Amino acid sequence: MMKLWNASIGWIDDRFPLTTMWDEHLAKYYAPKNFNVWYYFGSLALMVLVIQMITGIMLTTNYKPDAAQAFASVEYIMRDVDWGWLIRYLHSTGASFFFIMVYLHMFRAMLYGSYRKPRELIWVIGMLIYFALMAEAFLGYLLPWGQMSYWGAQVIISLFTAIPVLGEPLALWVRGDYVISDVTLNRFFAYHVVSVPIILLALVVVHLLALHAVGSNNPDGIEIKKNKGDDGIPLDGIPFHPYYTVKDIVGVAFFLFIFAAIIFYAPDFFGFFLEHSNFIPADPLKTPEHIAPLWFFAPFYAILRAVPDKLGGVIAMFASVWIWFLLPWLDRSPAKSIRYKPFIFKFALFLFTIAFLVLCYLGLQTVDPVRTMIARIASGIYFAFFVLMPFYSTWGTCKTEPERVTS
Ligand code: HEM
Repeated sequence: MMKLWNASIGWIDDRFPLTTMWDEHLAKYYAPKNFNVWYYFGSLALMVLVIQMITGIMLTTNYKPDAAQAFASVEYIMRDVDWGWLIRYLHSTGASFFFIMVYLHMFRAMLYGSYRKPRELIWVIGMLIYFALMAEAFLGYLLPWGQMSYWGAQVIISLFTAIPVLGEPLALWVRGDYVISDVTLNRFFAYHVVSVPIILLALVVVHLLALHAVGSNNPDGIEIKKNKGDDGIPLDGIPFHPYYTVKDIVGVAFFLFIFAAIIFYAPDFFGFFLEHSNFIPADPLKTPEHIAPLWFFAPFYAILRAVPDKLGGVIAMFASVWIWFLLPWLDRSPAKSIRYKPFIFKFALFLFTIAFLVLCYLGLQTVDPVRTMIARIASGIYFAFFVLMPFYSTWGTCKTEPERVTS
């Protein structure tokens, strides 16, 4: 049996670099030995991507991208298609979990300075992934053709009209109509199912290739490639396979446990994963009283509403996402990892995290003067974290980084 296996692999190797690729990216890819739980989220994001692709394709087999039939086709999937309810809940819960995994993954990068030299490109590609993911979620949310699908898209697309001169034609071009309509639904379906997933997949491949070119960072933020043995292998590195493939399976098991609990017991997650008013078919003549974005867009929506001027709000909202791109060049601290950075940096990151969560909460609520004031303060902290980073990241004294990784 083994002989046949080896012969088959040999046959493929003569025609395709299978073993070389396996070695390069798994069996002889040396990752730092001190990864902690924060290092689960990359592989988990990858798994959610696969779940979304598979369940998404299955949903398209019964979904109808037609304004007259879309809502009913989703109900049909939920009630009549064998296991349709499970496939749909896997996909809708998967969307929120994708963002949870990606936000935790990004936060890890902020903790350990994984965006710093030589990993700037991994970060920039990661940000492009994040953009594509936002686009994918926005496009997908129109498809069930519920009240929130319709009015959420209406609000966001009409934001473009704030742009002088180009705004109106741009909004018209995106919608393909003067309001959100069947035309919009058709094109959003095409982008959601074909264009954006291809871009997303390609970006993830490039993300991982860029990671493997420079090697992973670690919780100590020191380069394991600086300490190599006589065999040229980093002293603090262990082969990704089998060590981290096995470790990642533990993360997967834990993930699936929580994921399944939500799908089976709280699939709408109290209106956070599937908003209640989206169980009402879209009605272009009836605006819902309270239009709220999905939770993962909420911080940016809160920033938009915190600015009194419409154009100003749109600029602030886009700036709040774009500014993340600059992180590798804003952080000038001598240490990469939070473990060795001075108190001031830790405090700034703490304040920023609180501001982000507060904005997330406020973005889901109706506005009142007190909430608007809090949103303005939180937005101020949000931007200050980035804009002032070149200064405060050089203040204070860093702890001495160790020569070798600590376990
Ligand atoms: C579909 C979404 C994504 C997938 C599947 C993905 C996948 C991965 C994987 C598997 C790793 C290696 C394992 C790990 O470090 O956890 C990684 C590393 C990394 N990712 Fe992502 N990623 C995604 C999105 C992002 C985003 C949005 C960002 C940031 C904007 C980002 C930034 C990084 C960085 C900086 C590293 C290197 C971390 C280190 O070495 O410490 N990724 N990614």
